[in-house]
Amino acid sequence: MASEITYAEVRFKNELKSSGTNSDSPAAPKENTTPLKSNPAFPKLLLGSLLILFLLLAILFFVAFIIFFNKYSQLLEEKNYKISTKTSIHTNLKCVRNNSTMEGKVWTCCPEKWKSFSSSCYFFSTDAKSWNDSQENCSRMEAHLVVINNKEEQDFLTQNMDKNAAYFMGLSDPEGEGRWQWVDQTPYNQSATFWHPGEPSHSEEHCVIVNHPSTSLQWGWNNILCKDRQRSVCEMMKIYL
Ligand SMILES: *[C@@H]1O[C@H](CO)[C@@H](O)[C@H](O)[C@H]1NC(C)=O
Ligand SMILES: *[C@@H]1O[C@H](CO)[C@@H](O)[C@H](O)[C@H]1NC(C)=O
Ligand SMILES: *[C@@H]1O[C@H](CO)[C@@H](O)[C@H](O)[C@H]1NC(C)=O
Ligand SMILES: *[C@@H]1O[C@H](CO)[C@@H](O)[C@H](O)[C@H]1NC(C)=O
Ligand SMILES: *[C@@H]1O[C@H](CO)[C@@H](O)[C@H](O)[C@H]1NC(C)=O
Repeated sequence: MASEITYAEVRFKNELKSSGTNSDSPAAPKENTTPLKSNPAFPKLLLGSLLILFLLLAILFFVAFIIFFNKYSQLLEEKNYKISTKTSIHTNLKCVRNNSTMEGKVWTCCPEKWKSFSSSCYFFSTDAKSWNDSQENCSRMEAHLVVINNKEEQDFLTQNMDKNAAYFMGLSDPEGEGRWQWVDQTPYNQSATFWHPGEPSHSEEHCVIVNHPSTSLQWGWNNILCKDRQRSVCEMMKIYL
């Protein structure tokens, strides 16, 4: 830049000097017109770079604003989450820090006294109710009767159950026609069921329990009368904070 400036100044002086001898040589005017043009262009160049600088600053501010706004709205969202969980019926949560680098949802929580497995929380009742009342009781706790999706979940559940009890789950056959329905509308998958041998039986028994009869070697499912009073298991999605 500095060398350009001196170059322009020198040329300008040269031109003033040679202005009198303009007609002397044909090459002289040519030589002079170029520096003349470049000189007024210099403030233009400065103005242009200032404009670019200003634009860059404006963009920078805009980006900074966007980032700030995102952070701020994320904070707001998180706060709302905490407020809504406080106003929910579950006042005491047990949380574990989730290792994933995903921002925001880093804590996974289950209500106190509930057990955690995979992405769900489970409540094992010690009192007994009919199937309808059990499901309604789960509903009141923002949950539903347990839906067993695979062997791992079945095993987790039975590990937490009392062999001397039976537990209602979220499977029923309201019409008594063998059309088994999960309470959360999960499609019934025959190959992911754990019926005791010979079950289901008796078409008037529309509701399903998990139990471990003394006559059986293992845990399994059995259909019983819905009005029977049994323990139950409620399931809900883990809460993300
Ligand atoms: C962590 O969070 C991710 C995404 O929410 C979830 O897929 C994953 O199972 C969580 N890990 C634990 C240990 O809870
Ligand atoms: C979290 O991640 C680190 C490294 O990825 C690992 O060493 C640690 O055991 C993880 N902790 C949990 C609770 O998953
Ligand atoms: C019903 O819910 C209460 C808590 O609201 C709990 O103490 C009780 O064990 C539940 N009973 C059943 C059968 O789910
Ligand atoms: C359970 O409740 C449903 C409606 O929610 C009702 O149609 C059904 O008769 C009830 N069953 C029993 C055994 O109370
Ligand atoms: C049914 O369950 C089996 C065994 O768990 C599984 O391999 C299959 O994908 C399931 N089918 C559907 C449609 O979910």
